[in-house]
Amino acid sequence: MIKREIIDQIREQTDIVQIISEYLPLKKAGRYYKTLCPFHSEKIPSFHVSPERQIYHCFGCGAGGSVYTFLMQYEKLPFPEAIKKLASKLGITIEEDKSQYRYQALYDACEFAAKFYADALENSKLAIEYIKHREINQDTIKRFRLGYAPSGNLLFNAAKKNGVSEENLIRAGLAVKKEDGCHDWFYKRIIFPVFSIAGKVIGFGARALDANTEPKYINTPETPIFKKGANLYGLYQAKNYLYQNIPILVEGNFDLLSLVNQGINNVIAPLGTALTLEQALLIRRYSNQLIIAFDGDVAGQTATFRTIEILLKANNDPHVIMLDDGFDPDKYIKTYGKEKFNTILNNNIDFIDFILKIKPTSSVTDKCLRLKEILELISLIGENVSQELYLNKVSDLFKVSKDTLLNQIQRDRKTANSSSNPTKTSNQLIQNMAEKQVLPLIVSIPEYALIAKQEIPYNYFASSEIQELIKTIYENIDLENFSSAKLIDLIDKSEMKQLVADLSFQTKTIPTKIEFQRKLRTLKAAWYYKAMNEAKVKGDFNLLEKLTLEHYNLKKNLSQKRSAYNEK
Ligand code: CTP
Ligand code: MN
Repeated sequence: MIKREIIDQIREQTDIVQIISEYLPLKKAGRYYKTLCPFHSEKIPSFHVSPERQIYHCFGCGAGGSVYTFLMQYEKLPFPEAIKKLASKLGITIEEDKSQYRYQALYDACEFAAKFYADALENSKLAIEYIKHREINQDTIKRFRLGYAPSGNLLFNAAKKNGVSEENLIRAGLAVKKEDGCHDWFYKRIIFPVFSIAGKVIGFGARALDANTEPKYINTPETPIFKKGANLYGLYQAKNYLYQNIPILVEGNFDLLSLVNQGINNVIAPLGTALTLEQALLIRRYSNQLIIAFDGDVAGQTATFRTIEILLKANNDPHVIMLDDGFDPDKYIKTYGKEKFNTILNNNIDFIDFILKIKPTSSVTDKCLRLKEILELISLIGENVSQELYLNKVSDLFKVSKDTLLNQIQRDRKTANSSSNPTKTSNQLIQNMAEKQVLPLIVSIPEYALIAKQEIPYNYFASSEIQELIKTIYENIDLENFSSAKLIDLIDKSEMKQLVADLSFQTKTIPTKIEFQRKLRTLKAAWYYKAMNEAKVKGDFNLLEKLTLEHYNLKKNLSQKRSAYNEK
């Protein structure tokens, strides 16, 4: 664990605006800085950074927190790693006890396994043969750290000898516990380590050696460090090539390796799932264009269509290459060579031409359907210029005026908006009006938090989550320099971190302390009503009497204060 003082010290020496602007283009807008939110897709910036409070908050998706939270969310770092990252920017060294990092042990287990599998590949004739037959060269094997999982629980045994605990092996998804003991998760399979963007092994894909084994692939299950929909195969190896080359998205691990093998390095692959928005946003960090190169069958085309939609949502401009039926990039480049593949790549088509190619367009009815589909996709585009260019193209192609097209988009948007109503975390967690009014003040103004601490016990708040939050505030409020950013870093749950950021952005007008006190007492009164009701239902009349008396005194007190206040 890293000491609280160090965490505070680093945060206090950091400017959140400066850190976030290393990642996102921030524009000053009044007291805040604004930009398009990197955590959901949007067209109008609702991501706000407050230099005053040193926190950020997205009014669209509710993401929010301190500078640490940002690094955790954006770079997908665990908390200690985010601290270390900031510390190194500031030149502060942190004394650390490695064994205490909850995630480090899992990275260590994966790293151990990667080495073990790579060694096993060198020692397995069968596996070497297979790799040879797939024409993967030594360079690629090394760069992607390909391996082989033998049978016989060899990984488990080796791990035990080398101090990797059974528990961590299981938590990293490398072993499973059964009635007769612990077993390796992967066996008799070619191993494809999956890397984080920083190059750490976080999980594995594994392909069967022969065509009869089902399923063809087995992957690491979800673990604290491995989420399939949040990572891409090959991104770590490809990332430095993506600034100059448009990323190529292929379906299979072997498609990717085959292209890399021939010197095409800008390739990535989803990890066996349909591309997720999270993956698309990850790609957008490196490029706002992408070429989809899926298998040339109906399944591949369907997947392409879905992928287009996701990419457009992430403000990425998808293009497509269409291989003949029966071909995937792997087979294509092996059959026709790199030059031909490059020619095909250069002849990529945009998503509109793709749709017009795979779907009928001859009758008027067909045309109407296509137009509707295409307009729906165009309306997802966040960037005005490319939206306009695509509209021009459609207007030319279909010979329909741009005004008509725009009208249609607007009409579609209206119906879409009326049907979806995103719920925000704060609305789910804060149930009553009085809480809604006092919470923003308690989390962001230390003086008001102190008043609350004197006035109302934490368990008078309605939900257990809010009670927990208030308890944390009460326990820490006496410390010097209390701030919402600090509070955020004291909390564990990410939704509560978000809530605090959200609340801190809500203090527009600050009431007087007396007004604030009155609101707290309303809250208290609400609690009494509830408690009295419960006592009544339970038939606990002693408690009911006690509560009634207390409540009476509270009300008297309240009305006295109120009249005193009104006389002023
Ligand atoms: N996949 C998976 N689980 C499966 C099948 C596939 O996770 N049961 C994932 C793998 O990451 C695979 C990708 O989906 O790489 C695409 O599948 P496929 O085209 O079948 O795999 P390839 O790697 O292309 O395998 P090959 O060329 O050897 O048939
Ligand atoms: Mn394939």
